[in-house]
Amino acid sequence: MNLIMKMLAAPATVLALWAVSAQAATNDDIAKRLEPVGQVCVQGKECKGMEVAASAGGGDAKTPDSVIAKHCNACHGTGLLGAPKIGDAAAWGERAKKEGGLDGLLAKAISGINAMPPKGTCADCSDGDLKGAIQKMSGLK
Ligand code: HEC
Repeated sequence: MNLIMKMLAAPATVLALWAVSAQAATNDDIAKRLEPVGQVCVQGKECKGMEVAASAGGGDAKTPDSVIAKHCNACHGTGLLGAPKIGDAAAWGERAKKEGGLDGLLAKAISGINAMPPKGTCADCSDGDLKGAIQKMSGLK
């Protein structure tokens, strides 16, 4: 609540100063203008602005499934261009052996390898996002 009051204080002050200097508003007008702002945010339930701010940081959380569906499945779903297929444990296991395990595969997924584009086209995937997707596709731990 303290944070909300602080966030309200600045625009409210500006609004009040503006209204006074314009000499075009009665106290009632000012109160009316401030009222909806105070109601919406101070009650803490319907404050759209705060909701947006709160979700901005982690709004686009990735899961292995969402990364695979959006980015990896196009090739790894069907084995396009020789990509190891999702769920083909033997194919993934062989590659893991060659690259020195899951972390080796992750490194190749980040840099790209042959027809496999860097990060599998998921440019804003973190290493952890990619690793989760590889684990899910390969069954490797
Ligand atoms: C445009 C097609 C394409 C997309 C999209 C794609 N891949 Fe691939 N991927 C490939 C191909 C082709 C290979 C096999 C490359 C080779 O060994 O020549 C491969 C291989 C890999 C390998 C094994 C690398 C190695 O060292 O053997 C990993 C890990 C991998 N992909 C992860 C991913 C992940 C994770 C995604 C999604 C974020 C993804 N790929 C999206 C085509 C794709």
